Amino acid sequence: ANGYFTYDPGFMATGSCESTITYIDGAKGILLHRGYSIEELARDSDYIEVVYMLLHDKTPNTEEYRDFKDTITRHTLVHDQINNFFRGFRRDAHPMAMLCGSVGAMSSFYHDDLNIHDPEQRLRSAYRLVAKMPTLVAMCYKYNIGQPFVYPKNELSYAENFLNMMFSVPAEDYKISPAVAKAVDRIFILHADHEQNASTSTVRLAGSSGANPYACIAAGVASLWGPAHGGANEACLNMLEEIGTVDRIPEFIARAKDKDDPFRLMGFGHRVYKNFDPRATVMRESCHEVLAELNIDDPLLNVAMELERIALSDPYFAEKKLFPNVDFYSGIILKAIGIPTNMFTCIFALARTVGWVSHWHEMLSQPGQKIGRPRQLYTGEAQRPYSKIDK
Ligand code: SDX
Repeated sequence: ANGYFTYDPGFMATGSCESTITYIDGAKGILLHRGYSIEELARDSDYIEVVYMLLHDKTPNTEEYRDFKDTITRHTLVHDQINNFFRGFRRDAHPMAMLCGSVGAMSSFYHDDLNIHDPEQRLRSAYRLVAKMPTLVAMCYKYNIGQPFVYPKNELSYAENFLNMMFSVPAEDYKISPAVAKAVDRIFILHADHEQNASTSTVRLAGSSGANPYACIAAGVASLWGPAHGGANEACLNMLEEIGTVDRIPEFIARAKDKDDPFRLMGFGHRVYKNFDPRATVMRESCHEVLAELNIDDPLLNVAMELERIALSDPYFAEKKLFPNVDFYSGIILKAIGIPTNMFTCIFALARTVGWVSHWHEMLSQPGQKIGRPRQLYTGEAQRPYSKIDK
């Protein structure tokens, strides 16, 4: 319709859609958010500015930025009853199980932004979700490890606040490293949105039925959890731990090539990018910066770097267009920062919340929006008579 692609309006009711938010060219490795390249945003912007731009289709001026940052900051506290809600989970629950449950429960705590037909209420719930996800993700972590929840601090930036809620303890404050906060903010930017990926499509489909924003985002969290999608960064680190040492890499490379072996290299390949994932290029730079900055010499990270080197030089992976994706490097950075593997997908969900709510808000803003109804190709039995049995 706008020169990038055309669509058949008839497909609109089947889950396909028109959107102005993100453009991907998988063959050329191009990723634009509202027309801005991911490389420039990751280098020169920050996550709060990207959130504003994704939701409002323009970058903010200085005053708009400061007002928006203050608005998000003032929504970071969660209803105190949510503390009790968490107490219902087992301590060893997977953090994504707790995040999925607590996000879905938010509609029972916030009742003034559930009218999905009111643009102002839609944006209010979008701001609440973006603001509260770091608090909820940190609560999942603290509950898992048996430490008390840490309240947000309004003087900290979005990424600093998240790190403080994750790692501060009553006995001593967490010393925030600007380099680490910058790396985390960049991870948030690089995971913010990605067009019609599985979890965003899930949110759109849920939203098309008129479900409340918190239920829709909980559906997105659930979809992202899968190891083929957002669960890949956790699966990638688990794979690196299974490989264990550099000398075992060839064994796993062989398994990845074996058609009869379901094993896949986690953190490699992509549904859309068939050359390189531009986010991975930026993330790779950030990864090496963080490892140098923190002076990390972790054998697991050495395995990751050697696996990357071998895969990038192996003709098989070039032929199959299998390159390290965004999840390969993000997992390495998060581990270097000291975030446990089982928290990785929660952090992906935190960052992707703005993409989910932006697509949800955009879809509900479009006139004549219908409930999504993907069709099927029926390959089952033709009609046949039913015979009752003696029960
Ligand atoms: C994300 O959609 C999005 O935008 C997602 C995402 C986002 O931001 O929302 O970008 C985030 O989900 C990134 C992907 C994270 N997932 C992983 O890293 C898991 C490991 N990768 C895969 O499981 C796989 O690569 C997929 C699911 C990502 C893509 O799978 P496809 O669509 O089947 O890949 P393909 O069709 O391009 O595969 C081509 C060939 C196939 O072999 P043949 O059938 O042609 O013989 O490559 C093989 C695949 O079997 N292959 C792999 C492989 N990925 C594909 N072989 C070994 N290891 C792999 N990782």
